[in-house]
Amino acid sequence: MATGPGECAWSAADLRTTSAARSTLTPVERRAAAALRLESRRRTFLAGRAVAHRALIALDPTLAEAADARRLSVLAAPDGAPDAWIDGRLLPLSVSISHRGSQVVAAASRLPVRVGIDVERLELRSPEFVADFLTPAEIGIVTASSDPDLASNLAWSAKEAVLKVRRTGLRRDTRSVEVYVTCDARRRDAWEPLAVRDLEVPEPVRAWWRTDGAYVTVVALGFSPAA
Ligand SMILES: CC(C)(COP(=O)(O)OP(=O)(O)OC[C@H]1O[C@@H](n2cnc3c(N)ncnc32)[C@H](O)[C@@H]1OP(=O)(O)O)[C@@H](O)C(=O)NCCC(=O)NCCS
Repeated sequence: MATGPGECAWSAADLRTTSAARSTLTPVERRAAAALRLESRRRTFLAGRAVAHRALIALDPTLAEAADARRLSVLAAPDGAPDAWIDGRLLPLSVSISHRGSQVVAAASRLPVRVGIDVERLELRSPEFVADFLTPAEIGIVTASSDPDLASNLAWSAKEAVLKVRRTGLRRDTRSVEVYVTCDARRRDAWEPLAVRDLEVPEPVRAWWRTDGAYVTVVALGFSPAA
């Protein structure tokens, strides 16, 4: 659990060691998980909520009491984005969740600043993936990079983080967000600023990235209309 970049808090966990049983999950969150068909999906859903609770408490330690009393819930809105609630009251906070492989991450911020987080494994992306989802400028950067796995996953992760800030996810074309990857070195355990531009929404968005082992995480902060 840690202070994140900008004005957010973030938390990360290993899915294999995150215990839903010992966490602050609420009955309503457990019911939402029970409605999911696949056991693997139930596990990531619950772990995401447990980590989101931690990010929210890192942002606002006064929430710890409600979480301990199993009153703090992170529930999906109709658009799919998570929202934080206490006793049926929507909190003026923004929360975001991502899971990939064994890594589960979450971030939280105070509205009107919205947060989006995305984690990706640093793995090979095919030329077809790069051609389909990146902009011409990003394709040029990835092609020229000495670490194309980092460059392509960083660009993809940043797009997803920004589109989570906007609460659209992949309903929007990933090429409507442009990422300016200027660094080839794999940073470890420290947030680095990343230049991104939303080509459809005029409000500025800021982003940071870091690597942890085989994973790259991007956090984006911006403003977005209420859901
Ligand atoms: C948001 C989205 C890009 C994330 O996809 P992903 O990379 O596979 O998964 P990640 O692990 O990084 O993120 C998943 C989390 O994003 C969050 N999320 C889902 N929809 C979101 C949205 N519209 N805005 C912000 N966050 C969203 C959820 O918290 C979800 O985790 P949870 O379901 O366990 O709570 C993708 O789910 C999406 O585009 N959703 C909107 C479009 C849609 O509903 N499509 C239907 C399925 S194809």
